[in-house]
Amino acid sequence: MTALEDRDSVIQLIGGYIVSNAIRAAGDFGIFSLLDVDDGLTLTEVALGARIDEAHLIRLLRTLQQAHLVEEAGNRFHLTSPGRLLVPEREGTLANFARNFTSPLFQRSWDSLEETLRTGTPGFFLVNQQSIYDYFAEDDAANALFNGAMQEEAAATATAATTIITLAENERVIDLGGGDGTFLTKLLQANPTATGTVFDSPAGIANAPSVIDRSSVANRCDFQAGDFFTAIPRNGTTYILKSVLQDWDDERAYQILRTCAEQVPAGARLIIIGNFIPDDFDRNAAVGYLTDMCMLVISGGRERTLDDLRRLLDRAGLPTASLSHRRVGPLTAVELTSAP
Ligand SMILES: C[S@@+](CC[C@H](N)C(=O)[O-])C[C@H]1O[C@@H](n2cnc3c(N)ncnc32)[C@H](O)[C@@H]1O
Repeated sequence: MTALEDRDSVIQLIGGYIVSNAIRAAGDFGIFSLLDVDDGLTLTEVALGARIDEAHLIRLLRTLQQAHLVEEAGNRFHLTSPGRLLVPEREGTLANFARNFTSPLFQRSWDSLEETLRTGTPGFFLVNQQSIYDYFAEDDAANALFNGAMQEEAAATATAATTIITLAENERVIDLGGGDGTFLTKLLQANPTATGTVFDSPAGIANAPSVIDRSSVANRCDFQAGDFFTAIPRNGTTYILKSVLQDWDDERAYQILRTCAEQVPAGARLIIIGNFIPDDFDRNAAVGYLTDMCMLVISGGRERTLDDLRRLLDRAGLPTASLSHRRVGPLTAVELTSAP
C-alpha cells in the first residue's frame, strides 16, 4: 500500500460513525424495506417511497454503497446480501439491533469514552446517572427496542445453541436472563418432554408472555420475573445463562454465579453460553473486541476468555472439575454439574 492508500484506509475507519448513522437513517426512512424487491428501484422510486429529496438521498445511497450494503446496476439500486440483513422481519434480521446500537441513547454514551477509560465508569452511567438495566425499567420505548435487538440475536443463534445442549427426558430448564423466551421456546421444541421457565427482570421479561403464547410449547413453558442477584427458581434440572455474564463486571458476574452456587439444586447442571474471546489476539474475533468495548461503555461489563470464566466459576465455588465445553460457530456452551 502507498502512503496515500493507507491514508484513505484510515479516513474510512475514522468515518465509521458516518456509516453507523447512515444505517440508522436508512432504517428510519424504510429504505432497506423499499429496496427489498427483486428488480431493485431507481433513485426516483426510492426518493418517492422514502419521501426524501433525490439530491440528498443519492448521498446516503452512495455511503451505503461504499459500505457494501447497497449496489447499483443499470441505474437501479439493490440490496447486497449483507444489506438484506437490515430488512425488518426477514430471517436473521439485524434491523432492531442496528436501531438500538446506533440510537442516540447508545451513541451519547461514547461522548465520554476518555473518562470511561480513565475511571472505568460506563459512559451510559455518566450520561444517564443510572445503569442501563435500571434505565430500561423506566423507559418503555428504549426497553422495547433493546428487547427487540436481543430477540433478533437470540432468534439467529437459537438453532445453533440448541444443538450444543443435550437434555435428558423430562428435564426442567430455567433460562436465567432468558429475555422474551425466544431461546427457551426453541430449546423446548427440540426436546418434547422438557418443561421450562424463562426467568428475567420485570422489564426484560415484558414480551415473554406473547412469545410463549405464540410458540408451540406454551403448555410446557412459563415465565417468572425476578432478580438473579438475589433469588432464582429452585426447581430446575438444567440452568442456562446465555449471553448474560458479559453484561457485568467481574464482581457482579461473580454475584450472579454465587446465586447459582447457592441455589441451583444438587445434581442439576449449569450451562453458560456465550461468545468467548480467544486468549491471544485473533482477527476472526473482531466482533468480540467490538462488543467488549461496547460492554465497557454501555453496561460496565466485559467479554471474557474461557480462562477468565473458569476463574470466576472457581471463585464462586462452582464445581469446575466437572467442566466441559462444546462449540458451534462463535458460540461455546460451558457445562458444569453440581454435586448430587
Ligand atoms: C444480553 S441479554 C441476553 C438475553 C438472552 N439470554 C439472549 O441470549 O438473548 C441479558 C438479559 O439479562 C436480563 N437481566 C438483567 N438484569 C437482570 C436481573 N437482575 N435479573 C434477571 N435478569 C436480568 C436482561 O433483562 C436481559 O434480558
